[in-house]
Amino acid sequence: MFLSLRDVSYDNAWKSRTFPPRADPGITPDNGTMPQIRPYRPEDRAAVYRICTLTGDGGNDATGLHVSDDLVPDIFAGPYVDFEPELAFVVDTSSDTGTTIAGYIVATADTRAFVERYRSQRLPAFAAKYPREPGPVPEMVDLGYQPERMLVAEVDEYPAHLHIDLLPELQGMGFGRQLVRTLLAALAARGIRGLHLTMAASNTPARAFYDRLGFVELRSSTPDAPVLGIRTDAAV
Ligand SMILES: CC(C)(COP(=O)(O)OP(=O)(O)OC[C@H]1O[C@@H](n2cnc3c(N)ncnc32)[C@H](O)[C@@H]1OP(=O)(O)O)[C@@H](O)C(=O)NCCC(=O)NCCS
Repeated sequence: MFLSLRDVSYDNAWKSRTFPPRADPGITPDNGTMPQIRPYRPEDRAAVYRICTLTGDGGNDATGLHVSDDLVPDIFAGPYVDFEPELAFVVDTSSDTGTTIAGYIVATADTRAFVERYRSQRLPAFAAKYPREPGPVPEMVDLGYQPERMLVAEVDEYPAHLHIDLLPELQGMGFGRQLVRTLLAALAARGIRGLHLTMAASNTPARAFYDRLGFVELRSSTPDAPVLGIRTDAAV
């Protein structure tokens, strides 16, 4: 499928605009002229879902791969923006002719609490939406039934975890680094000292990104299931 910001209401006027320089470390003032990082708002939810699907196959488009295009965001995006919207940040590509976003970072500050909350508040609706039919359960559906998979061995040292996705048009411009930097600051302000992530081993571009930012492989990491961590006071 052709990927375009048009898929999330991208407007042509924005195309010709200048990106902030890589060196710009912070949140760009809200002047409507360039992509900027800002806190998530409830009205961003549908676009977050769309971006998650468009990047949900190890960084590539997951449209049509699963029983529903909502499946990947129902596991990796929705619970985060609903439970902890204050730890979600987006890259806003709005202009005077349209409002949209083209990337996001979502997180939980406390993976243990998140797992409990997911099991009690989310799993019943997930099970109703994705019933386990007799026979083999698709791997992605199964992930939604197994929140305890998030309890990595280092969860107490690195209690927060994240998911980050940018549409292809916005990749490689420094927004990923800025989103991680923004999240680390938000976590540090809440007294959270460590952040981790799990990822698909096949997503080698993302792995290069995390390595570049200074994430380190945690003890429980395996070649098939990388687990990376970073302190929230790290300079990225
Ligand atoms: C992975 C992702 C979040 C990175 O964000 P990004 O905005 O593209 O990355 P940045 O431009 O901020 O790059 C930050 C640093 O990482 C490096 N980097 C990023 N991608 C890289 C790659 N594929 N190979 C080598 N280095 C890379 C950049 O060179 C940059 O280093 P520099 O500042 O010293 O030049 C983004 O590309 C993305 O969303 N990809 C698709 C979805 C995905 O895979 N999500 C992660 C799932 S685990």
